[in-house]
Amino acid sequence: MEVLFHADALPPDPYDVSMIIETDRLVLRPYSTSDAEDVHAYGSDPEVCRTADFGPNTWEETVAFLASVTDPANSAIDLAITLAGRVVGGISARPGDEGRYELGWVMRRDLWDQGYATEAARALVAHVLTLDGVTTISARCRPDNPASARVMEKAGLRFVTRIERDREVRGEWVDSLLYEMDVNPVGGVPA
Ligand SMILES: CC(C)(COP(=O)(O)OP(=O)(O)OC[C@H]1O[C@@H](n2cnc3c(N)ncnc32)[C@H](O)[C@@H]1OP(=O)(O)O)[C@@H](O)C(=O)NCCC(=O)NCCS
Repeated sequence: MEVLFHADALPPDPYDVSMIIETDRLVLRPYSTSDAEDVHAYGSDPEVCRTADFGPNTWEETVAFLASVTDPANSAIDLAITLAGRVVGGISARPGDEGRYELGWVMRRDLWDQGYATEAARALVAHVLTLDGVTTISARCRPDNPASARVMEKAGLRFVTRIERDREVRGEWVDSLLYEMDVNPVGGVPA
């Protein structure tokens, strides 16, 4: 895996939208408003969205999503997962209180179960571990989403607890499984 930064003279800014991460098969890069068709292909797929907190998106919602993630005021790390030049998914790390970062991911359905989300998640975890002040990397999924839970485990996160009625998704309160990785104060994973 190789982490590249356009502004390579300086330490990476966690919110640097010019960030690009290369893995063996994927390039994770900032979204562009011209990604709408590719993003809409999975963001409007009911089966992809069944276990996600968003969607299925209308075209307008896809355009609004791209406007939010390309907004310079966006405080999260939001990256398009690209394969052979096409956007095939997305991954994010959202900063919270006290050095917490919460991860999220989505992949186009025809590419599931080929290790792509794991490859992207491992790369983003490795990047977040380089940021100052990180204490915890977390992720959560619906209890009926074993694929996402498995990605969390393979990225080095461990099951913590089930949170009852964690979020309201499409008008319904849903439970979450919370996974975390504790990070020591100077960065890196505790021994
Ligand atoms: C979650 C998601 C991103 C995973 O993407 P992916 O590229 O298929 O993930 P990977 O191939 O890296 O890993 C999937 C793992 O889950 C496993 N898996 C898939 N379906 C499973 C099931 N029903 N039960 C148990 N394990 C399952 C796969 O076998 C694989 O594990 P393995 O490598 O140990 O065999 C993808 O399923 C998706 O986009 N889902 C819809 C959106 C979503 O739920 N996002 C997450 C919200 S928390």
